[in-house]
Amino acid sequence: MGLRNRSQKVELLRSVPLFTHLSKRHLDELAKHTEEHNVDAGSALINEGEPGRQLFIVVSGKARVTRQGKVLASLGPGDFIGEMALLDHKPSSASVVAEEPMLLLVVGSREFKPLLSSVPDLAESLLQTLAARLRAADAALTSE
Ligand code: CMP
Repeated sequence: MGLRNRSQKVELLRSVPLFTHLSKRHLDELAKHTEEHNVDAGSALINEGEPGRQLFIVVSGKARVTRQGKVLASLGPGDFIGEMALLDHKPSSASVVAEEPMLLLVVGSREFKPLLSSVPDLAESLLQTLAARLRAADAALTSE
């Protein structure tokens, strides 16, 4: 499980604002289903058009989301990345590249649905993210 033992990992997760309200049991579930990855600036996390393989939850650092070369968003701590392709099994909608060194929690495609079932607050946060992104996309369309 990398450099941290399970209880150190739970402490790391608890320090992420997105997870502070989770119960000990849910933090344990999250620790069990996720891996910590450090990536360098410039690392490609997702390539547009490829199948979805992982969900990333940003602990620190920033990533840039582009589609057909156009910047859609910059994502940071507490953001989800790669959820769309895992939810609908379609190709990744955009490319995502680390803009600075990042610490990520990574959830494999097979772990994704079991994790959402075992941590319902996480599923709710993910739905809130999708709603916020749809609002932003609607706002961008109507301000053109
Ligand atoms: P997915 O389609 O699996 O892979 C690319 C990811 O980029 C996508 O999931 C979202 O996590 C993210 N993404 C795509 N479009 C946007 C957007 N408009 N705003 C923020 N994030 C996005």
